[in-house]
Amino acid sequence: MKFFIDTANLDEIKEAASIGILDGVTTNPTLLAKEKGKGDFRAILKKICETVDGPVSAEVVATDAEGMVKEAEDLARLHKNIVVKIPMSKEGLKAIKILDSKGIRTNCTLIFSPIQALMAAKAGASFVSPFVGRLDDASHIGMDLVQDVVSIFENYELATEIIVASVRNPLHVVEAAVMGADIATIPFRVIEQLIKHPLTDVGIKRFLEDWKKVEK
Ligand code: G3P
Repeated sequence: MKFFIDTANLDEIKEAASIGILDGVTTNPTLLAKEKGKGDFRAILKKICETVDGPVSAEVVATDAEGMVKEAEDLARLHKNIVVKIPMSKEGLKAIKILDSKGIRTNCTLIFSPIQALMAAKAGASFVSPFVGRLDDASHIGMDLVQDVVSIFENYELATEIIVASVRNPLHVVEAAVMGADIATIPFRVIEQLIKHPLTDVGIKRFLEDWKKVEK
């Protein structure tokens, strides 16, 4: 499974890249708004693309297909790594189809049902992003959606990749890998949690203490 980081913060992206596990980045308008004051959003996206050699999702804010396509073309011109995030909607599906015909990769975002994912894949999305944490917040089991999308894409041998998004904890990542999702996009805080295990910490401490006896 590929690991993407879900942030627009360059320090977090550089740190995650240095660990050697980073395959891509996802941003959204909320995440870019958090970086306000650190330069133009286009410059931030370009720096992210220069830092990580993998797909970097950047989202449109237009709500009509024509506007989405125009914004998508502008974003795609920034760097070859850019994948354009298009929200799931009728206009979004139209935009995905047009962008696919122009060779621009898309990530259909805000997926909350299996059929939305299937429709996005049929329209030509390169990626779909089911939001598991927000479903959990609404008392639905978010990972059930991922399991359904994995099954549907396997049934019809669809090439669209599944990005498990709105990840809130390590269990989301473990379950995504067990289910065979292609990608999990993970906040920096959760990447750090994934590295840790209390028994690893206890083990390191014990080895270091015992080694002191050898050195004495
Ligand atoms: O990748 C989508 C993600 O950023 C949404 O996460 O935590 O705002 O639901 P969250």
